[in-house]
Amino acid sequence: MFRVGILTVSDKGARGQRQDLSAAEIEKQLPSSLYRVAAYAVVPDEQEAIIARLVEWSDQQHLDLILTTGGTGVSPRDLTPEATQAVIERPVPGLAEAMRAASLASTPHAMLSRAQAGLRGSTLIINLPGSPRAARENLGVVLPALPHALEKIQGSTAECGSP
Ligand code: MTE
Repeated sequence: MFRVGILTVSDKGARGQRQDLSAAEIEKQLPSSLYRVAAYAVVPDEQEAIIARLVEWSDQQHLDLILTTGGTGVSPRDLTPEATQAVIERPVPGLAEAMRAASLASTPHAMLSRAQAGLRGSTLIINLPGSPRAARENLGVVLPALPHALEKIQGSTAECGSP
């Protein structure tokens, strides 16, 4: 069972002015046979607040996977990618590249997402956009690769594919 943290990054959400529908959407999409949501929080679009939560969930709670939602765009308060870059030790750019590439089929706005993905210790951190639909669509792109990724991160020496 992989332990997951869902971190919603939203000024309005943190002030209680917006219901957090994206986290529920993300949780619904994770097969319960493989994933258990072990941590959930809403933080404002502040780099320090995002970094603190990512570091705590990686270094203290040792979560297998952290999915952030929100704050990946280009408005002045969209700081999730900067906070994520500050804590990631080994980038896994293909995850964000795949999300952007696939999402372009739905909307040209997909190219505005500055989402990052990478490893801090043995925790995989992936940024998703903020709207429930965008979060669902983007998670759907990477979900098929996640069990293999998480097993490899934990040191599985199994072959990656058939010869
Ligand atoms: N990706 C998909 N699949 N579907 C979407 O509707 N919205 C885009 C983009 N990625 C979208 C998407 C938009 S409008 C923005 S501004 C960026 O994600 C960043 O979103 P965020 O600032 O909510 O993180």
